[in-house]
Amino acid sequence: MKPIDRRQFLGRSAAVLGAGAIGLGVGAEVASGATNAAPDSAETAELALADELAAHSDFEGYHQAGILTPRQANAAFVALDAIVPTQGELVEGLKELSYRAAGLTQGGAVAEIEIDDPPPDSGLLGGYNAPDGLTVTIAFGSTLFDSRYGLAAARPAGLTAMPAFEKDGLEPDRCHGDVMLSICADHRDTVVHTMRELLRTTAGVLTPRWRVDGFQSAKRGPTPHSSTRNLFGFRDGTANPDPTDAKLMDQLVWVKPGAGDPRWTAGGTYQVVRTIRMHVEFWDRVGMFEQTNMIGRDRVTGAPLGGAHEFEDPRYDLDPKGKRIPLSAHIRLANPRTPETEDQRILRRPYNYDRGLDEAGNLDQGLLFVAFNQDIARQFETVQKRLEEEEMADYITPVGGGYYFAPRAAAGPGDWVGSGLFA
Ligand code: HEM
Repeated sequence: MKPIDRRQFLGRSAAVLGAGAIGLGVGAEVASGATNAAPDSAETAELALADELAAHSDFEGYHQAGILTPRQANAAFVALDAIVPTQGELVEGLKELSYRAAGLTQGGAVAEIEIDDPPPDSGLLGGYNAPDGLTVTIAFGSTLFDSRYGLAAARPAGLTAMPAFEKDGLEPDRCHGDVMLSICADHRDTVVHTMRELLRTTAGVLTPRWRVDGFQSAKRGPTPHSSTRNLFGFRDGTANPDPTDAKLMDQLVWVKPGAGDPRWTAGGTYQVVRTIRMHVEFWDRVGMFEQTNMIGRDRVTGAPLGGAHEFEDPRYDLDPKGKRIPLSAHIRLANPRTPETEDQRILRRPYNYDRGLDEAGNLDQGLLFVAFNQDIARQFETVQKRLEEEEMADYITPVGGGYYFAPRAAAGPGDWVGSGLFA
């Protein structure tokens, strides 16, 4: 993400300030040049806004944003089903989805057309849709490749419906979906606005199936690099593969041409989403020693047991019998760190969720586990099956989610996410 130029932001904002009259714009976001200089006090306020809301990620390029992008604070994951009868109508809907998402992620002034028409934007963010670090990642579920749209032959080789694993308690209306939208931004209102705009854009073509909202805990140090915590109180994200290592991402995340998948899948990745309920009332009754042994890390520092620093190597080679870090610890089963398991690593991008109370008055909290990988069978499923042996499994229940394929990004203006599938 990069901050946009402050003067550019001020220019756009000043244009918005001067464009209160009806009938100026034509689209939902309009490019603009500065007309009136903002008064000093407004300028000061705009500068503060520019700092807080100005981060943006490119929507166009080779890989979609929202995969390697550092996690923003807020998210919504929305699964949708296609309801149109023909491929042509589906294509039109996906194009509109992509164009609107592109506009929202880049930011722009909100236009108004006619006073009697519904405004082209809900206006939740005011007169200027600041980018606010927004990413919209679009992915397709295996059902999109059934018999309805003639896409069966184009199905990515590794894309199946997410199976129920041994300890899952999957609820059918919280699983799968033809399209998955991962909407992530620095602030909650941007996520809500984006979701509303995208659902409005695709109404009549895609209908919502399920949705889960997520949040990141605040960064509380001790260093700027310290990982934030999940709802069991442990740091989450410590041992993720480095997303800035392009060679590693080519080995673990991106689908390569000629790897058994159809050609349109090149540059894309498989996305796994799992809504995992965490039984926090039970967890909070477990002794600290047992909690840390289940995870394999110190709860406060995040260091591997026996270590002092969050990012140090757990050195399983020096602890073959699991005296320091039990063999059943989550981190040890998830990644045994042997040469044989190197290519099974996944890129995690999880969020916490908090959905109020269940019918019995228990907290409905958990982890929205999101991971990207090149090959679901080789990576996610292998790890998931190893984790069936972990003790933490008694304190969590996966209740929903799905497998999806996130294709390469829109290449440039006019292109859209998924165009290769229909080429
Ligand atoms: C509610 C469920 C889960 C909780 C509370 C949880 C918690 C954690 C914690 C605290 C860590 C250590 C810090 C870190 O490296 O990020 C971790 C690491 C990890 N988790 Fe999970 N996790 C959950 C589910 C899963 C699932 C479903 C998978 C994959 C199938 C998974 C795979 C991993 C991996 C690969 C690591 C890194 C291990 C390493 O490289 O050392 N986790 N998890």
